[in-house]
Amino acid sequence: MAADRLMIFDTTLRDGEQSPGCTLNTEEKLELARQLARLGVDVIEAGFAYASPGDFEAVQLVARTVGTVDGPIICSLARAMRDDIRAAAEAIKPAAHSRIHTFISTSDIHLEYQLRKSRAEVLDIAGEMVAYAKSFADDVEFSPMDAGRSDPEYLWSVVERAIAAGATTVNIPDTVGFLTPTEFGAMIRGIKENVSNIDKAIISVHCHDDLGLAVANSLEAVKNGARQIECTINGIGERAGNCSLEEIVMAMHVRRAFFNPLFGRPVDSNEPLCLVDTRQIYKTSRLASNLTGMLVQPNKAIVGANAFAHESGIHQDGVLKNRLTYEIMDAETIGLSENRIVLGKHSGRNAFRTRLRELSYELNDTDLNRAFLRFKELADKKKTVSDWDIEAIIGDEIRLVPEAYRLEQVQVVCGDHAEPTATVRLVDAQGVERTDAAVGTGPVDAVYKAINRIIDLSNELIEFSVQSVTEGIDAMGEVTIRVRHENRTFSGHSANTDIIVASARAYLNALNKLQHALANPTNTSGALAHPEAAAEKV
Ligand code: KIV
Ligand code: ZN
Repeated sequence: MAADRLMIFDTTLRDGEQSPGCTLNTEEKLELARQLARLGVDVIEAGFAYASPGDFEAVQLVARTVGTVDGPIICSLARAMRDDIRAAAEAIKPAAHSRIHTFISTSDIHLEYQLRKSRAEVLDIAGEMVAYAKSFADDVEFSPMDAGRSDPEYLWSVVERAIAAGATTVNIPDTVGFLTPTEFGAMIRGIKENVSNIDKAIISVHCHDDLGLAVANSLEAVKNGARQIECTINGIGERAGNCSLEEIVMAMHVRRAFFNPLFGRPVDSNEPLCLVDTRQIYKTSRLASNLTGMLVQPNKAIVGANAFAHESGIHQDGVLKNRLTYEIMDAETIGLSENRIVLGKHSGRNAFRTRLRELSYELNDTDLNRAFLRFKELADKKKTVSDWDIEAIIGDEIRLVPEAYRLEQVQVVCGDHAEPTATVRLVDAQGVERTDAAVGTGPVDAVYKAINRIIDLSNELIEFSVQSVTEGIDAMGEVTIRVRHENRTFSGHSANTDIIVASARAYLNALNKLQHALANPTNTSGALAHPEAAAEKV
């Protein structure tokens, strides 16, 4: 099947959500799916519908809300099993454009130890289950799992059988991130040259990053005929993660002269090679990080804090003379505006709303009022309020789960000759105030202990980090935390010029999510899972 551009298949909500310690509730998945649609991905793999009622609901909600006529294709993963495929078909039904993605392993090691089936059996199952999926959806994707370690000739026969049964996309996963670019490119070329009906399907690739080669392998696959890449925001995913969406998209953008001829275009064509709106990249990265609690390393390509920073004197000198001396792309291309001063303390609600629109935020009146009050507070404390500050306020104010507890006040006494002591006052959903105090090993510990005296939700703090939003002594600090409760992880996030306040609010954010999950057991993926499907979360 000819494709004159690259399809971007985002699996942040499925493979990305399989990152160790990452759980998103339904509201968070929906928020991220909306942003992925604004980003312009072709396909959103919204989850694994059969894995649990929570996963099913999330896929269905994304299909209903984001799967509009001009929206992306909404996809659910399904093992090559009838029950899985039926659940996937049912969950994606509300979407205007939908896809079932079914898979079965093809490597001998998986066949022998995991599936305990022969090659012939798996070949038949692949054909039968693609045909079964086809009875529910026109758009069916098939993946031979662990293709990277599969015998090439057997792989070709499975792919051929899947296409004959109706698969419109065949996705070749390097499930364990084992291959080098040359090997993976040869594997894709081998499929193109040896699968007789390959012209009836799009070749897709799905690379894991165990050896740090996921992006390189995916690009090599494009060189050899792949026309869809499966990837995630910030490269999150199982183990070392997946191919990173922002790196792929920017490689295709910055090096379009290299890729254009592969798509039959003149070298100097400026027509984008994929439909992603690059100006939404930074915002999507921030949102994914805030919601999942998975921080982006500072030196991460494209979206890391240092990606556009120049430290060495020689580099700075060069950039001042001509940016192109040391920069291959403009930060504005990914939506990272210069840290410009947009508003001050005299700016009114209208100016604030207009700036939010320019940053592509549409808030309802309640959220807008809250965000505006926070902006005013910040503008009183901080001389200059930048776009980054505004993004941090928005990330902080949009709470996707009901607030069972809200921070009314926090006060701390600490210092080298003081015992760190915190007093906190919380207000519950009924408006009842409760105050308590505790002593801790440090100010944050004291605050968390005081909160624990009011909210009785056992948990273990497994990650705590503070980053500054902008430069300068008056910068806001962003706190991201993760807590564990009975093998499930909940993240919390908050930004404030006072990092103790941010720490308290981040903790409450995580506890509110935990409380929400306990009150709505199907709301978080993995909850009440079909045991064998959850155990096998791909
Ligand atoms: O890594 C993998 O093989 C997968 C498949 C389900 C595509 O995630
Ligand atoms: Zn995967």
